[in-house]
Amino acid sequence: MVKISVCFMVLALGLVDAVFTKDLSTKGTQREKISNPVEGVHVALWGEGFVRYTWLNPVPHGPDNTKFNPWCKYGTSSTNFNHTARGEAYTYTAGMFNMTLNSVVAELPIQPDGYTQVNYQCGDSNYGWSPVYSIQLQTPGVSQTQRGNIALIADLGSTNGSDTITALEQFAESGLIKMVVHAGDISYADNFGKRNHNNSYIWVEYMKQIEKFTSWVPYMTAPGNHESQYDFAAYRNWLPMPYKSSDSESPFWFSFDYMGIHFLSFSTEHSFNQSSAQFAFMQQDLIQANRNRDSVPWIIVFGHRPLYCTSLVAEHRCVYDAPVFRSYLEDLLYQQRVDVYLCGHDHSYERTYPVYRERVIRRDYHNPQAPIYIVDGEAGNPEPNDPSFQPDVEWRANFYPGWDNGFLLVQPTPVALQFQYIRSRDLTPMDIFSITKD
Ligand SMILES: [Fe+2]
Repeated sequence: MVKISVCFMVLALGLVDAVFTKDLSTKGTQREKISNPVEGVHVALWGEGFVRYTWLNPVPHGPDNTKFNPWCKYGTSSTNFNHTARGEAYTYTAGMFNMTLNSVVAELPIQPDGYTQVNYQCGDSNYGWSPVYSIQLQTPGVSQTQRGNIALIADLGSTNGSDTITALEQFAESGLIKMVVHAGDISYADNFGKRNHNNSYIWVEYMKQIEKFTSWVPYMTAPGNHESQYDFAAYRNWLPMPYKSSDSESPFWFSFDYMGIHFLSFSTEHSFNQSSAQFAFMQQDLIQANRNRDSVPWIIVFGHRPLYCTSLVAEHRCVYDAPVFRSYLEDLLYQQRVDVYLCGHDHSYERTYPVYRERVIRRDYHNPQAPIYIVDGEAGNPEPNDPSFQPDVEWRANFYPGWDNGFLLVQPTPVALQFQYIRSRDLTPMDIFSITKD
């Protein structure tokens, strides 16, 4: 019997409150059951009181899709699934994809204590069922924050992210993380001419890999440049996001509240200058969110590309692109008191002091008065890692080169956002900071 005991250094810091021992022999048994016919199970928040389960049935969709009948059964008890929800089976053809995706929107059983433990199983009477998964979800309309962390990642991909995926799997199954937010560059399914642009197999492989955590916690995304092929067809079909629940007119930008944080997901791959439809949505959304601080005290905006960065490998992004993006968004983020702007794209990690128009507003994070900009782009994909930075940048507070994979954890409370940047291979915290408010 293989047992892995994970004792986090973060324990000593009091940010994560459990030592857990995992029995991998039982997980292995479950993993074997996951193979067919339900693969790549992932859960997205879907507006107030709903979630959306999506998964792959790895068989050709074909013209006669009436044989598919996807549904999920679920409940608060692991033995009595007293709720059911039916959905749809569909496909798309970009990247030579021809298999069957399934998607079910399910209304949550509401619990009065603020959190809902949902046990669920999804599948199809004709093809079989997933294992039983368990997911803990915040009840809509409840303002208190849940004790736990949210993992923030970017630039993962299917080829080099196993350390990060394993870490997120352990954190999700043990309940240490309650959600994963992914700020773009997801599967890295690029065009591959030698394979006749058949790149959909990369999405299949990636979604099967991350099922290890996306079946246990909500997985919320923004598109990056590596999702743009075929007009984002794979991204839109694999990762439907709840844009209509936030009055967005585009699948590429939306917002949601979770664990005391208002998250605004937007697309740096679509226009966001001040005359764009996306900017109009962001402006209206952030004004509303800023007025709603009594209920939801924090605001995090996430998109793929940096507004502030100092990488030398990707110098043009920081020297030429970032100032243009700042000219679009920085005033809005500052005026609506956004707490954090999160991105990837540069495969490195760095964070700023509270900054506005390149002027440091404070040299600590207490009542910061301006956004903190974080590049968090080394979850997995290695090309190109960014190991060097411009020297002596006044607004840069800390950085970590992209030699090792890593990701951020944030634990929200009503008066603090407590961050840890975790090195994936050994779960060592490489950077720790908190944003606090009176
Ligand atoms: Fe990128």
